[in-house]
Amino acid sequence: MIQLNNITKQLTEAGVKVPILQTINLTVEKGEYISIMGPSGSGKSTLMNILGSLDTPTSGEYLFEGVNVGRLRGGKLADFRNRRLGFVFQSYMLIPRLSVRDNVELPLLYTTKSRKEREERIRRALEQVGMSHKAKERTMNLSGGQKQKVAIARAIINDPDLLLADEPSGNLDVHSKEDILQIFQSLHDSGKTIVLVTHDPDVAQRAGRVLVLRNGEWAAERVEVGAGQ
Ligand SMILES: Nc1ncnc2c1ncn2[C@@H]1O[C@H](COP(=O)(O)OP(=O)(O)OP(=O)(O)O)[C@@H](O)[C@H]1O
Ligand SMILES: [Mg+2]
Repeated sequence: MIQLNNITKQLTEAGVKVPILQTINLTVEKGEYISIMGPSGSGKSTLMNILGSLDTPTSGEYLFEGVNVGRLRGGKLADFRNRRLGFVFQSYMLIPRLSVRDNVELPLLYTTKSRKEREERIRRALEQVGMSHKAKERTMNLSGGQKQKVAIARAIINDPDLLLADEPSGNLDVHSKEDILQIFQSLHDSGKTIVLVTHDPDVAQRAGRVLVLRNGEWAAERVEVGAGQ
């Protein structure tokens, strides 16, 4: 589904080139659940932003189901992001004064779905994350764990193929973390491809494959976990 070929990312600071990612290769199969670990500053979020087409690599190729993402522009790029990808961030990125329902609806407003279809999708997404009872609540009144569930509902509302999660449980207590991990597990079971970044080995181990980034490169320790163990 995803292929990264020799992806690099450099930034120029005060005329000096700073390598952020160096020669990253990655293949992710459809339906895979992988996690990425690594020290702070190793390039995890940079890599996630490239996978999410929110940032562009300095060199290298990003193929998504054979489509060269680096060549997408304008409406095609926006469509790719909105329909094929779902994002979950550590800081939730919800609109505080809007209700749960309205936050979850946002990505649908960029599509041509009818009101009826939108309501049905919102209902299903909130059900999937166990937040139907809070549909009318403003998200500013929710706990961290509840906010993250709403953020996941928003991420899946357009039925994306790939879910990208950057430290989704970074701000959560143990109980909420477990809820969120169970939601990811059920999304994985229903066929979603998931790439998740975490500092937490316990979270990483839930994926089928754990990769480690160090100084913008894959570290030698490729940890294989999950199925078969
Ligand atoms: N816009 C930017 N300008 C300057 N430096 C940047 C920028 N974005 C990232 N960096 C640098 O790139 C490196 C990788 O950053 P990145 O955010 O990808 O790390 P990370 O692995 O996600 O870290 P963390 O675990 O703390 O979230 C860091 O050294 C960071 O300072
Ligand atoms: Mg980061």
